[in-house]
Amino acid sequence: MEINLKDLDPKQIYKLMISAIVPRPIAWVSTISKEGILNAAPFSYYAGVSSSPPVVMISIGKKDTKEKKDTWKNIEEIGEFVINLVTYELVDQMNITSISFESEIDEFEKAKITPKPATMVNAPLIAESPVNMECKTYEIVNIGKMGVIFGEVLNIHVKDDILNNKGYIDTTKLEIVGRLGGANYCLITKENTFQLKKPDIE
Ligand SMILES: Cc1cc2nc3c(=O)[nH]c(=O)nc-3n(C[C@H](O)[C@H](O)[C@H](O)COP(=O)(O)O)c2cc1C
Repeated sequence: MEINLKDLDPKQIYKLMISAIVPRPIAWVSTISKEGILNAAPFSYYAGVSSSPPVVMISIGKKDTKEKKDTWKNIEEIGEFVINLVTYELVDQMNITSISFESEIDEFEKAKITPKPATMVNAPLIAESPVNMECKTYEIVNIGKMGVIFGEVLNIHVKDDILNNKGYIDTTKLEIVGRLGGANYCLITKENTFQLKKPDIE
């Protein structure tokens, strides 16, 4: 079967794209508005794009009202945000923050998550998350109706005891959640992780 995307409407293309690009990491992004209202929302069109400088990207759409989503608006106005990792025990709270609340609503209160001051940015960390990356805007690129936000990672908070002696975060100690198509998610556990050594071929 072959599908020419020119024959599909945007909704069908979206469904194909998000079920073909899997598993996707989830950036649980916390921001603050210029009025001081705290916001959080998950984004899975998310990737690391460079380590030198350390840059990540998240792609954010618009609300049904055609306005920019609050995360996009806050990042545009403040220039700072925090990416928090989502573990299995946080999925319900993450899911609550995916509701399109009015901009005036404090989503930390709605989802019962705890804001913790960051060191280098004004946006708050989500205290319950084991890894938080403080970012400042590197560049925002408009692609169609999406705002693609590139952020430079300035500072990373890692829960004690999960950084191994080789300098990697030991993801087998966390149950990190990834996004698949539709309402489907996946889970990184020690049991479903494996190692692949570089092949030794001349
Ligand atoms: C796991 C997950 C991943 C999501 N990924 C994206 C995404 O990559 N881009 C996007 O625009 N919306 C995405 N959404 C929807 C937003 O989280 C949702 O629109 C949210 O209300 C935006 O909140 P805000 O207006 O406070 O920024 C995702 C939702 C979930 C549950």
